[in-house]
Amino acid sequence: MKMNEHYVIRGGVPGRERLRILARVMQPTTRHLFEQIGLEKGSSCLDLGCGGGDVSFDLARWVGSTGMILGLDMDEEKLAMARCEAEAQNLDNISFALSDITTWQAETKFDMIYGRFILTHLQDPASVLAHMAQALRPGGIMVFEDIDFTGHFCYPASAAFNRYVELYSEVVHRAGADPNIGLRLPGLLAETHLENVQMNVVQPAARQGEAKIMAPLTMDYIRNSVLIHELAAEQEIEEIVSALYTFAYNPNTVLSLPRVVQAWGYRPQG
Ligand SMILES: C[S@@+](CC[C@H](N)C(=O)[O-])C[C@H]1O[C@@H](n2cnc3c(N)ncnc32)[C@H](O)[C@@H]1O
Repeated sequence: MKMNEHYVIRGGVPGRERLRILARVMQPTTRHLFEQIGLEKGSSCLDLGCGGGDVSFDLARWVGSTGMILGLDMDEEKLAMARCEAEAQNLDNISFALSDITTWQAETKFDMIYGRFILTHLQDPASVLAHMAQALRPGGIMVFEDIDFTGHFCYPASAAFNRYVELYSEVVHRAGADPNIGLRLPGLLAETHLENVQMNVVQPAARQGEAKIMAPLTMDYIRNSVLIHELAAEQEIEEIVSALYTFAYNPNTVLSLPRVVQAWGYRPQG
């Protein structure tokens, strides 16, 4: 399968390593979300844009041996690593399929359809939600977590950080997608005719540790997209990445992830 030309961040092995860090930073709030929605043992779950499978692994443990998880992604390398890791972790209730979720057709109905940081990369998230709703059993739940780059912050102010936010937002816009989709999530779920739509806002931010690495790493990994659109020259990108790492490693600064919206809603029973 052709890699998604709309996906603006580097994929493959380096992309997978970035997702591993992201997953460690997000794990507490994602687990809290599963607790809050009351995800039950034995549930069947679809993980859209599962990447290296970090959330799929957590879900597989959560639903136990009577449940099942199917992870979909269009990056073959990440899926190959996800399969190896699932085996190493003795998770036999999980499978991964190479698919473009914008055209994928379900053969079964799921109790939960989940996606983290995937809708922000799609050109027409509403139509993906509409066709995914058909793969949800009546009473089933759809759950998404996604970003709002307008809420990304640092302290003290940093010109490199501001330029990074500008460049990231622009490459996602150029790909026809939305770097600020988080705030639209509840409305998108309601327009998909889901009921009882609810939301949380969560936002990792830190003075030390891996949360601070995400901004420099992401800037580094969007470099190809920035260059393709001629938004900045190689030298400027190097300078921003380097300034962001210096900022991140300074224990007296604060760096956040983008604001993250968690939203969920239920397919009507009848
Ligand atoms: C930011 S990553 C998030 C991965 C994972 N959900 C997580 O939170 O760790 C987005 C993933 O979506 C995948 N992706 C982007 N567009 C896709 C599409 N149309 N169909 C399937 N996967 C897609 C990318 O390959 C990437 O692995």
